[in-house]
Amino acid sequence: MELLTHPDACRLWRRQLAAGETLALVPTMGALHQGHGALIRMARAQADVVAVSIFVNPLQFGPGEDFQRYPRPQQADLAFCQSLGVNAVFAPSPQAMYPRGMAACTRVAPPPDLSDRLCGASRPGHFTGVATVVLKLLALFSPDMAVFGEKDAQQYAILARMAADLDLDARLIRHPVVREADGLAMSSRNRYLSAPQQREAALSLSRILFWLRDAWRQAGEPSQSRLSAPDAFAEACQRETRDGFTLEYLEAVDDEDFTPSETLRAGVRLLIAGRVGDVRLIDTLLLSASA
Ligand code: PAF
Repeated sequence: MELLTHPDACRLWRRQLAAGETLALVPTMGALHQGHGALIRMARAQADVVAVSIFVNPLQFGPGEDFQRYPRPQQADLAFCQSLGVNAVFAPSPQAMYPRGMAACTRVAPPPDLSDRLCGASRPGHFTGVATVVLKLLALFSPDMAVFGEKDAQQYAILARMAADLDLDARLIRHPVVREADGLAMSSRNRYLSAPQQREAALSLSRILFWLRDAWRQAGEPSQSRLSAPDAFAEACQRETRDGFTLEYLEAVDDEDFTPSETLRAGVRLLIAGRVGDVRLIDTLLLSASA
């Protein structure tokens, strides 16, 4: 496995791949877990060669957010990638990625209809940072495909729009949410949940989503498709919120275009964000009759 630390090395490495070999890129911020493992396995199944980027991107963190304390277990991450047969890891410094400094860096303006609400409302500038770094990574690697996690559903919608609007070559792929046995969506930020009470509080996210899915399924057709989202949300939150959890938002959107939906129906994506102390977590679930 190659360890690349400078953008120039990525371009060089890319050029050395054999003609016709397909490349999948898995962009990450490190602190890798089995959720990332699933993305890497999906990348390996679909492409000849896999590159993983590990970069805690300062451009996507706001003042007072967890940029400084974000976990950076580099040796463990490299060993994890090696064990999964990754061909190259790109782990640059902020200086290598933003040599003229962040203030001077050209930025990608994400589409406001997708980026100003939900997570964008409480994290101004976040999706600008995400879109900018992902565009840079796609430019450096020219991958045939790039794999992202479904948990960051709004991020994926924005990146998919960016790829379409900017005529990017790479095909973006979304891997389903990977969950712990208790239902908590895997996230590098779960490492912050040290006390058992925090973990229990964090389960509010998945419990609320699962309660809504079950209520929607039990309603059955035809009333199923007329279930009011605000009413169902109020009941779900009342039943499934655990002590120590503060809801930031719970919304239903059409999975095709992310427009808000007032009813629960197949094809609607539920999105939730909340806090356990100062730890901010998100989760998502797509309503479908079967899964
Ligand atoms: O989802 C993430 O881990 C990050 O937002 C990403 C896509 C790697 C960009 O920094």
